[in-house]
Amino acid sequence: MITEINGKKLDFHQLLEYSITATFIVKANVIVYANKACLRLLGLNKPEDILNKPFKQFLHPDFHIQNERFLQQVSVYSKTVEQVECSIVNAEGTIIEVESTYGVYEFDGETLVQIIMQDITARKETEKQLMQSEKLSVMGELATGIVHEVRNPLTILKGFLKIMDKETTPNGKEYIKIMLGELERINTIANELLYFSKPHDSNIHPHNIVRIIQEVIFLLDTSAFKKRIAIQFHTEEDYIEVVGDEVQLKQAFINFIKNAIEATQQEGHISVYIDKKLKDISISIMDTGCGMTDEQLAKLGTSFYSTKEDGTGLGLMVTYNIIKNHHGHITVGSTVGQGTTFTIRLPIPKHKYAMV
Ligand SMILES: Nc1ncnc2c1ncn2[C@@H]1O[C@H](COP(=O)(O)OP(=O)(O)OP(=O)(O)O)[C@@H](O)[C@H]1O
Ligand SMILES: [Mg+2]
Repeated sequence: MITEINGKKLDFHQLLEYSITATFIVKANVIVYANKACLRLLGLNKPEDILNKPFKQFLHPDFHIQNERFLQQVSVYSKTVEQVECSIVNAEGTIIEVESTYGVYEFDGETLVQIIMQDITARKETEKQLMQSEKLSVMGELATGIVHEVRNPLTILKGFLKIMDKETTPNGKEYIKIMLGELERINTIANELLYFSKPHDSNIHPHNIVRIIQEVIFLLDTSAFKKRIAIQFHTEEDYIEVVGDEVQLKQAFINFIKNAIEATQQEGHISVYIDKKLKDISISIMDTGCGMTDEQLAKLGTSFYSTKEDGTGLGLMVTYNIIKNHHGHITVGSTVGQGTTFTIRLPIPKHKYAMV
């Protein structure tokens, strides 16, 4: 065993005291030693805050029984308990997820328990994000399958209804109109689900985002006009290149601007800004609509969240997914009664994509 470095004797006590791993020594359920990393983990300053206190005092109550079992397993049966996940409560009352290992520490003829602990909050967060993106990609595949299966019968139903429409009574015509409308709704939902799937590489090309947004505004101008809402478009440049799937990008901006129109009262304003910054391309959609509370903002982008009578609540979920797949990100600012601004940032393409 190495006991010296550069001819100097190693101070093992100091080594343990300053170790980056939190180490507790527990005797009869009470903490008899804790190093500096334990203080840091628990957000405490003085060793007295920990020493001679029951170990379970720092654990979340949900883990008290489990902890008793582990302590017994080590002290009575000398069996190590490895890498168990549990939660502790720090000085501020924050719950921290940790991974602990309980092992035997023989001292002065007695079997004590040493517990090492590691904060795993960051790891858990990454795991959660990974699971979320896996779920989304499974959903994407599933959605693509379902949509293809649903579209064919829909087309057939619509076809027959149109034929029946020619031969039916005025009352029948009214029912057929409603049925066609509902079928169209199913079609829209099915199409929106398609956007869960990742953009196919073959559809990824350089495009002028200024033109894409202009076309989207043109498409939605009629519904804005009906509410006497003016959509203003501001750009310093006529050509700003992005790389992506044109159909999906259009779908995303249609959703943002459609939402803005729906949230805005008669004679309100919507402004769309495109700006090529140093690091990315920023597109802002500002409306003078109803705005959202913090609770509403927190729900944005989750499936089937809608405050509209006829909303599917899939629009923003699909949109968020499209922007994520284009390596972009979205921020939202909103004040109830004043309006909302969605800002979308898309990356500036690398040289290999540059147009010739
Ligand atoms: N610009 C906005 N101003 C105020 N609220 C908004 C805005 N954009 C979205 N929201 C809120 O977020 C909710 C979810 O939007 P999302 O586009 O996902 O679904 P939807 O518009 O309700 O339904 P769909 O898009 O299927 O028609 C909306 O119902 C609305 O309450
Ligand atoms: Mg919408």
